[in-house]
Amino acid sequence: MESTEGEGIHESEHNHESLLEAQAHVYMHTFHYINSMSLKCAVELSIPDIIQNHKKPITLSQLAHALNIPESKSPHLYRLMRLLVHNGFFAKQKILNELHDQDQEGYVLKLPSKFLLKDNPSSLSSFNLTMLDQVLLRPWQFMSAWFQGTSDEVNAFETAYGKSFWDYAVEHTDLCSSFAESMAGDSRLIAEVVVREFKVVFEGLRSVVDVGGGVGVLARVIAETFPHIKCSVLELPQVVSSCQGYENLEFVAGDMFQAIPSADAVLLKWVLHDWSDEECVKILKRGREAIGSKVIIIDVVLDIKGRTYGCRDSAEMTQLMFDMQMVVDTNGKERTQNEWEKLFLEAGFTSYKIIPSFGFRSIIEVFP
Ligand SMILES: C[S@@+](CC[C@H](N)C(=O)[O-])C[C@H]1O[C@@H](n2cnc3c(N)ncnc32)[C@H](O)[C@@H]1O
Repeated sequence: MESTEGEGIHESEHNHESLLEAQAHVYMHTFHYINSMSLKCAVELSIPDIIQNHKKPITLSQLAHALNIPESKSPHLYRLMRLLVHNGFFAKQKILNELHDQDQEGYVLKLPSKFLLKDNPSSLSSFNLTMLDQVLLRPWQFMSAWFQGTSDEVNAFETAYGKSFWDYAVEHTDLCSSFAESMAGDSRLIAEVVVREFKVVFEGLRSVVDVGGGVGVLARVIAETFPHIKCSVLELPQVVSSCQGYENLEFVAGDMFQAIPSADAVLLKWVLHDWSDEECVKILKRGREAIGSKVIIIDVVLDIKGRTYGCRDSAEMTQLMFDMQMVVDTNGKERTQNEWEKLFLEAGFTSYKIIPSFGFRSIIEVFP
């Protein structure tokens, strides 16, 4: 290709194949939101639940009928399903009819869409709808303005709404409860994996306080699996006001920056990534004052190499995306091992041990 003056990119240095690939790369990344929004549409329409309840492969016309979709929109439903099949949420299976004269195809669920079933205790449907709701999409439109704004604008969420995510959630109880539900969906699977595959972490403990433990999904699984461990959940009052404890599980309304109840171990799952280094050191210092044995952190460690346990290909992308979510909505970040170590030393801990790559997160035990 001949280069002409003023073309900008030096197209003559590349062959057509790599230029077309680069062009497609830009289109794909510009349009990635279409994957997210199409998935959200399927969740809003309860398509995974309809397929599940059908109990056999569902044809396009059966799906359109169940959704009460006008005949004229059925081809568009086909196109939505085609993208979601391509993206690994559904698969197509042949259905043989009784006369064997005409093969039909029907949609079935693939494993990721089981996490979108509304009655699955590990459902991420609430996470999907909350994160893709206009309230949480709006700050992204402010991101570049935030970058070039003054340094006292702490994140794009505050630029968009004039207050922090946590203050906004106190005033908007619907966001507060859908966020708590989103976290509960995540915690169910993580709790099962932690207590079954990594139970060594709980050996010798008689009490655990789950700080910022949401509505207590993780603490409940620990309390049920290890009845000798007394579990508490320390949470903001608005999150735990209607949570009921039982024998070895109690809910404590409070503020982790002020005080953490005493226990053998303090658990911090997916909490520290919401906060700045200074705020994390404060929380960790409160944790050190509270513990007899250790702090257990479940969070992302960005550069850790080790065995993977699930999430092989998508782990790094997922970590980087969560990090950007933290840039936009919080003062926090996903951290490398060195960044974690710095926090632990500053908060007065002397050693730590990482159980790497537990999905896209790791388990870190921190010792005084
Ligand atoms: C990202 S969520 C994680 C919830 C839970 N640990 C999980 O992984 O499912 C962070 C939690 O920290 C709680 N939180 C925020 N500020 C807090 C504070 N000052 N004291 C106690 N909890 C707080 C929030 O209410 C929220 O439930």
